[in-house]
Amino acid sequence: MTVLCDIRQLAIRYPHAKAPSLDHVSLTLQAGERLAVIGESGSGKSTFARALAGLLPPGVTVSGEIVWPSFAPAPLPGRDLGFVFQDPGASLNPVLTIGEQVAEGAKRHLGLNWKQAFVRAADLLERVRLPEPERLLRAFPHQLSGGQRQRVAIAAAVAARPSILVADEVTSALDQAVQAEIVALLDDLVREEAMTLVFITHDMALASTLADRIAVFAAGRLQEIGPVRQVVGHPQSVAAKTLLEAHIDLETPSLVVGGRP
Ligand SMILES: Nc1ncnc2c1ncn2[C@@H]1O[C@H](COP(=O)(O)OP(=O)(O)OP(=O)(O)O)[C@@H](O)[C@H]1O
Ligand SMILES: [Mg+2]
Repeated sequence: MTVLCDIRQLAIRYPHAKAPSLDHVSLTLQAGERLAVIGESGSGKSTFARALAGLLPPGVTVSGEIVWPSFAPAPLPGRDLGFVFQDPGASLNPVLTIGEQVAEGAKRHLGLNWKQAFVRAADLLERVRLPEPERLLRAFPHQLSGGQRQRVAIAAAVAARPSILVADEVTSALDQAVQAEIVALLDDLVREEAMTLVFITHDMALASTLADRIAVFAAGRLQEIGPVRQVVGHPQSVAAKTLLEAHIDLETPSLVVGGRP
């Protein structure tokens, strides 16, 4: 296994915050793996995702190291690393067409002209299973549903063929049926493009469907990390047990103890 990213003692504090939002987190990300990052609201998942992607806001205090052995010094967001935000509204620009936004990364990073980039954009819209991609290219974000916008955001994030995709709670604002569809299309896309996936969620069922390993966060600290089978079958931390119990209470039938095949 090749280490893609080595995170050592990473600590992050926002300006004026009383406590750090990430507290001495160490873990390695393997090339080609799918890592789910799970935790309650406020546990530091988005902070971790943004730190990984080099997208922290100005003014934060960072200590520790994020080492990317095969990138110098780090993957370029948009080209090497695609990022899908928690809120699809945050990923999309309301005054640009869907086509312009999906084509942009392909034009900028793949050396395509606009016409070629629009062809790629239409293909990507089809691959995220949106109907009538040619027509959608000319539509604006407000003409789409939340689930459709999130598919567009995923298409835009992978337009430049990044080798890493970081998806921050891409399904949490959507109803369960749409959640399952988005997870299925992410599963296909990540496999077809051989991407490394960091999938942020607070849902143990979604984590176990999509991921190889699960990292459990609470209060900015990494509580445990291991293969899906281990974390779901034999959780060690209180945080993992609590997240699993949330599913037992709801009698969620989809919790897969074995992880993905
Ligand atoms: N821009 C910011 N400025 C100040 N504090 C912040 C900022 N962003 C996050 N925080 C704080 O950092 C902590 C971790 O937040 P973060 O957004 O990483 O959590 P999360 O696990 O993604 O939560 P959620 O599940 O609600 O998205 C929280 O206490 C939050 O209030
Ligand atoms: Mg978050």
